[in-house]
Amino acid sequence: MGRVEASVLIPAAGNGERLGLGPKAFLRVGGRTLLEWALLPFREAAEVLVALPPGAKPPEGLRATFLEGGRTRQESVARLLEAASLPLVLVHDVARPFVSRGLVERVLEAARTAGAAVPVLPVPDTLVRPEEAHYGEVVPREGFRLVQTPQGFFTALLREAHAYARKRGLSATDDAQLVRALGYPVALVEGERTAFKVTYREDLLLAEAVARVWSAWPQGR
Ligand code: C5P
Repeated sequence: MGRVEASVLIPAAGNGERLGLGPKAFLRVGGRTLLEWALLPFREAAEVLVALPPGAKPPEGLRATFLEGGRTRQESVARLLEAASLPLVLVHDVARPFVSRGLVERVLEAARTAGAAVPVLPVPDTLVRPEEAHYGEVVPREGFRLVQTPQGFFTALLREAHAYARKRGLSATDDAQLVRALGYPVALVEGERTAFKVTYREDLLLAEAVARVWSAWPQGR
């Protein structure tokens, strides 16, 4: 697999509130920080920009440019986007430490042709709308997808989407939403179960297990 010809933008400026263990970027799993894991599939990327929490000391020995993040994920991405110098960007949350090169290639390929592409997964569980504390209407899970990162975009398109959101006061949990708000289509590619988001304490158990396997079998990613 060749060089990743894109600016890789890593919003890593969250303070990991739900986890309660400090900023996720610096959380250690299997001997590496989540930031180090998240950067692994982008080792050969042309440009890597990382947003860190204000006041955080940039880690040493990583091939990346560090910026100060904003108050929200969206603001952090907007800052990274300003600094991006290539026509394609990949936006990837530090909270997803295990992404294969195959997934990166799939997203890049689709983004190159469609202008915007994100990885998704089917919903494995039954989906229900709760009515107070009771079981309400079941929502057909076939009609839904779980959205992951990295998400790939033409840099100019994502900049326009962020500018539009700022003007309209829109806030979003990912970048594809902003591109959709602009009216532009976003292609879907197959995601990866191992690219799960470390959000709750239990996720760290899974992360430790994946880290052990991936450390022993680096070709696997
Ligand atoms: O809070 P959540 O897990 O949804 O955050 C998603 C990503 O956005 C994380 O990688 C987090 O570090 C990043 N983030 C950021 N700046 C903020 C808040 C979150 O870069 N102000």
